[in-house]
Amino acid sequence: MRIDVLTLFPQAFESPLNCSILKRAQDNGLVEIALTDIRDFAEDNYRKVDDKPYGGGPGMVMLPGPVFNCTEHVQALRPERGRIILLTPQGQPFNQAKARELSAEKRLVLIAGKYEGFDERIRTGLGAEQLSIGDYVLNGGELAAMVVIDAVVRLLDGALGDDDSAKDDSFSDGLLEYPHYTRPEIFREMKVPDILLSGDHAKIAEWRRQQSLERTKKHRPDLLRNK
Ligand code: 6GU
Repeated sequence: MRIDVLTLFPQAFESPLNCSILKRAQDNGLVEIALTDIRDFAEDNYRKVDDKPYGGGPGMVMLPGPVFNCTEHVQALRPERGRIILLTPQGQPFNQAKARELSAEKRLVLIAGKYEGFDERIRTGLGAEQLSIGDYVLNGGELAAMVVIDAVVRLLDGALGDDDSAKDDSFSDGLLEYPHYTRPEIFREMKVPDILLSGDHAKIAEWRRQQSLERTKKHRPDLLRNK
């Protein structure tokens, strides 16, 4: 997979992308992630990338010119045009199903902008879809783009050490995960549930399923409604 990120703050991505699973996935050639500075594609001597909204109102709006120039530049770097995604609180909710869907793509082009928004012609003219990572407002799309990259890359074949470890994750079956325990058996007088020490794998699976259901009912009943 190739992921291009178009941003005004490429340096903000450096350390999150160069740790742990994301670093290993790039080192192993599962994903190539390229950062491009939208400001390098500005069309005036001041390197301007935003301007006041027509019709008035607060804040600044991303200019279409630099974003179109930048997108066309990165698209031309590979034969595949890629799926263009704008990170904005106006987008469709990003969730595990969307992460799975995106993990099947050969190429993603993520565009992170300022929160006041993009000139509407960026979305319509580039045929971009919009994604939001939740119902709150961030200062820009950068952290959202990192969230999307993290959730997508861990689903690529071979990204996780243990091939099974994405399968039981919360949300992969629409439920929250069951509780986990490791050593010691008793920690500050808190004991590991006996069932987990029983060696009875069928009983353990049943207990875990029950715990998942109970947790979901208690903390995220909204997840059960569409089941
Ligand atoms: Cl994708 N962008 C911004 N600026 N804020 C957000 C978001 C995205 N998703 C939730 N809040």
